[in-house]
This record gives sequence, C-alpha cells and structure tokens, in this order.
Amino acid sequence: MKLLLQYKQGKDFSEDFVMDDNTKRAASAAARVEQDSQSTSQESGEAFVAYMDDSAGSRSPITGRDSKTTSAKALDRWFKERQKNHGAPRLLEVPNEALVTNGGPLQITGNITLVQEDGSVQYANHLSLCRCGHSGTKPTCDGQHIDKEFINPGKISEASEIAASQRPSKITISCIKDGPVTFRGRLRMHNQFGQECVKMRGSLCRCGQSASKPFCDGSHSRTGFKTG
Ligand code: FES
Repeated sequence: MKLLLQYKQGKDFSEDFVMDDNTKRAASAAARVEQDSQSTSQESGEAFVAYMDDSAGSRSPITGRDSKTTSAKALDRWFKERQKNHGAPRLLEVPNEALVTNGGPLQITGNITLVQEDGSVQYANHLSLCRCGHSGTKPTCDGQHIDKEFINPGKISEASEIAASQRPSKITISCIKDGPVTFRGRLRMHNQFGQECVKMRGSLCRCGQSASKPFCDGSHSRTGFKTG
C-alpha cells in the first residue's frame, strides 16, 4: 500500500528502495484500476444494472444450437452497447413484454428505465418485479413469494387499450413509495393462460393485496403496505 501511495503521489522511490521493472508495472496497473473505479462511480448519478437470465449463454446439448432466450440475447447486446457508449444503452430490437407468473414475480423484458423511490435511475433489459410484497430487495424479487406461499395464478382481467406491436420502444418504470410501480410506455402483459393486455401506462401491484392483480386497486393504502 505504501508503494502504491507513493507511486500515485509521484514521489521518488529510490529514497526507500529500488524497484525492478515488474514491480513498477504492477504498481502502475493498480493505480490505473483505482482511477477507473473512481471515475465510474462519479458517472452522473445513473447506475447500470442487469438482472441476468440463468439460461443465458447455454447451448443445447441435443441440437448444438444456441438456445439463449430472447431476453438473454437482448442482455448480451445491451452489455456490448454499454461498453461502447459508456452511457444510456441504445434501443434494443425487442418489444416490452411482461410475463405475469403463477405465484411469482412479474418478469419484464425490454428497454427498461427504472426510477427508484429516491429518484436514482437504472437501465435494464430484464427485471423480475416483486408481486407478493415480501421481497427484501424491492422492487425486484428475491424469492420470498415461495416462503410466504404467495398464491396468485397470474390471471389478467383487464382488456388491451392499444394493439400489440413488435416495434421496440422504451418503457419507464417508477417505484412509488409505499405503493405500486407505475409504467409509461407500451407494455404487453401476458400469462400462462394465453391472456394478454397491452397498455401505454398503468400501475402494477407490488403489495400482493390487490383484487385486480397484476394491477393496483389501491389496497396498499388500506393494508398499510410499506416499501422500506
Ligand atoms: S400496490 Fe398492491 S394494491 Fe396497490
């Protein structure tokens, strides 16, 4: 550590000891890594997150073909764009879709901008949003729906407001303190029963108490739901 500090401060090492070339190169690399990590943490208050799909990168043992899901491919591409731009990722060629799972989270794929309760912004291509209200990592799911035995088949009772589209677009998901998550942008919700609902905006229940899941019906106020 003393060696690294001296190197960064431009002090003459020869007073204390003589370094060989390898030692100098190692110290230089360590100083660069530290500078890089500092500049990354200062990036405009925006953070970049990705919620990995476990099936990403898999190759079918039977066909030998790439068996990545659409969301995994989108995630790969997002990472490449992120590396190139060092900023907001470019629009990906995938529509925004949300699978309302049976007794589990809402799995959203697309060009997602997530606005947290504190106003911080994150980008993602895949999010698993808690629907049961018990996650310790709200708004994302941490698997608590299993322990809490969250029962909801994921039926969708509302009708579409607009037509579905394969065109890519952006969606902004905002977390409301002690309330739902809202979305703005085309979102196609679907479930295991073949039901679907396409909307441009809406409020999604994350307290687990709504009678019209996956949408919020205001029950979070009645039940005193707390998000943090
Ligand atoms: S967040 Fe569940 S009813 Fe509003």
